[in-house]
Amino acid sequence: EPKIIRNKEEMRNWSRSMRAQGKTIGLVPTMGYLHQGHLSLITEAQKHTHLIVVSIYLNPGQFAVNEDLSTYPSDFHGDIQKLKSIPNGVDVVFNPQNLYDYGVEREKLKEREKEGEIVSCLEDEEHETWIRVKQLEKGMCGKSRPVVFRGVATVVAKLFNIIEPDVAVFGKKDYQQWRLIQRMVRDLDFAVKVIGSELKREEDGLAMSSRNVHLSPQEREQALSISRSLFEAKSAAKTGKNICSELRQSVIESIEAAGGKIDYVEIVDQESLETVEEIKNGVVVCVAAWFGKVRLIDNMEIS
Ligand code: PAJ
Repeated sequence: EPKIIRNKEEMRNWSRSMRAQGKTIGLVPTMGYLHQGHLSLITEAQKHTHLIVVSIYLNPGQFAVNEDLSTYPSDFHGDIQKLKSIPNGVDVVFNPQNLYDYGVEREKLKEREKEGEIVSCLEDEEHETWIRVKQLEKGMCGKSRPVVFRGVATVVAKLFNIIEPDVAVFGKKDYQQWRLIQRMVRDLDFAVKVIGSELKREEDGLAMSSRNVHLSPQEREQALSISRSLFEAKSAAKTGKNICSELRQSVIESIEAAGGKIDYVEIVDQESLETVEEIKNGVVVCVAAWFGKVRLIDNMEIS
């Protein structure tokens, strides 16, 4: 049975007392509505540390006002049930109400939360400090969602400061996010080892995502075009097709033919995330596409 901690100070005290006893701590940050993809990160984390903290926090700082913060699915009770089912378990679920709860705004924010509003830290005059990862945040998801990565980098830095984990596990599902966090940790000397964990798919190939629940049955069927086209690109590359513009074009066409609306398809270097013309070293094909009101992302490493 995981211990649920909602308070920052209590979280930090727990971590420090465990570390004083010689225990190492692994952190798996999430926004809740957990699925097998999230659970696989926990299994990965368990290989590296004695204790596991899973954070469940829907971070308003990484959503723009026109994005899906208000409709983002949540089921805290269900999440806890899933976490209980994991062999060897999770030690702590860190589930803060609001991580931006300092200063004079605190009471006001609480009031507004009570009224049912989800308060965005973008409106919070008390929060001025943002982490920007200059190059890595620019392309792909950062281009279509300009606030997402400063919000992610900042909240992850806050979680690292509160929990002080030895290891943190991120999914390669959010490939750009994983690379950006790795870079932030390197550039700012966080004492955390960042681990990238494999992307988990449904039986039929769809990348697992909390947002999949919003797909209609028809959209879900159409959305299979993403993974299908990525697997096709991978096998094409294996048989010697190494011109990225051509591979990219066929991915775009397959997804559009199925009824998806492309946000981006990029073939980039696995580390720098810079566009690659020809497949030589490790690349990753990254896709974001809309099916109805749902924006999905997926990717495929080709080495
Ligand atoms: P969230 O979308 O809940 O994802 C939490 C973690 O689970 C991320 O590291 C993500 O890459 C991973 N994940 C999601 N789907 C996956 C899949 N199908 N296979 C493998 N891993 C998967 O990403 C976030 O939350 C937030 O941006 C966060 C890092 C928590 C900061 O707020």
